Amino acid sequence: MSRGQYPATRMRRNRMTSFSRRLVAETTLSVDDLIWPMFVIEGSDSAESVDSMPGVERHTIDRLVAQAGIAVELRIPVIAIFPAIDAALKDEDGSLARDGDNLVCRAVRAVKAAHPDLGIVCDVALDPFTSHGHDGVLRNGEIANDDTVEILCEQAVRQANAGCDIIAPSDMMDGRVGAIRAALDDAGHQNVQIMSYAAKYASGFYGPFRTAVRAGATLGSEGKSTYQMDPANSDEAMHEIALDLAEGADIVIVKPGMPYLDILARAKAEFGVPCVAYQVSGEYTMITAASDKGWLDHDRVMMESLLAFKRAGADGILTYFAPAAARLLNDRQAKA
Ligand code: PBG
Repeated sequence: MSRGQYPATRMRRNRMTSFSRRLVAETTLSVDDLIWPMFVIEGSDSAESVDSMPGVERHTIDRLVAQAGIAVELRIPVIAIFPAIDAALKDEDGSLARDGDNLVCRAVRAVKAAHPDLGIVCDVALDPFTSHGHDGVLRNGEIANDDTVEILCEQAVRQANAGCDIIAPSDMMDGRVGAIRAALDDAGHQNVQIMSYAAKYASGFYGPFRTAVRAGATLGSEGKSTYQMDPANSDEAMHEIALDLAEGADIVIVKPGMPYLDILARAKAEFGVPCVAYQVSGEYTMITAASDKGWLDHDRVMMESLLAFKRAGADGILTYFAPAAARLLNDRQAKA
């Protein structure tokens, strides 16, 4: 057999050694890419585990501050704070959302006081605060867009007043980014960033999160599909992103993550703006549960999933794996 039959181009050549694989790697994952979502509850010096998300806990504010300290130690740049509100404090209009002394605002103040250089993201949406669990207010059985936007503006300003660095509207009302930008600017918060959940789909993968924040058990048969996007659509996501950017969004989120990598890749290619992927609760739970069963290699699959977001075009990743991934990345760097 003549050697000429063999290809001159052997793709495996670059893969043969560890140094070469490192050299030709196109994508890297860094601790700088991570945003760590955390859950906060009332009370002091306690934490409770979230049954639907093994390894994730809800913390009282003092404990949350300690968790934020871990983020700083691990060099995670940004955390996101989500409140789990007592049912007795919820009402139809989510009134507590506009209270500058509510749980999330107090948590932001406490974390900022202890860790001024750690970035803080807050969701803007009413679902933690409404008795029905929707992200907006109901008027005649419908989620009323414009009435909701007014409340969201107040919520955003209260959170910025508390020291939140990045406002993340996750409600999917129309026109909210522009309205929130104007409200923040009027309140003197020109430098507070807006990271909009621009392409947010009506997804079953949020299930474990809704358990974590104790919201969403009573959404009704349509769920959130009158405001969150249909998973069938891709062009519509580009339209949503274009609108949010025109209204002043600084960073856009695609959510969920892994089942929507096509949307993320398109968003990055078409707009060339900072893009964040949200690896949501259901994705975390799938990987964690299968690993707990011994069916998946936890660390390997975790890192592969995070790298995939970077390869698809993400600049940042919201992930409940943030501390575990940061530990691994830091260990690898220490060994290198
Ligand atoms: C609230 C909100 C949700 C998530 C983030 N912000 C749930 C929802 O829209 O129902 C989901 C996060 C996750 O599943 O990890 N608007």
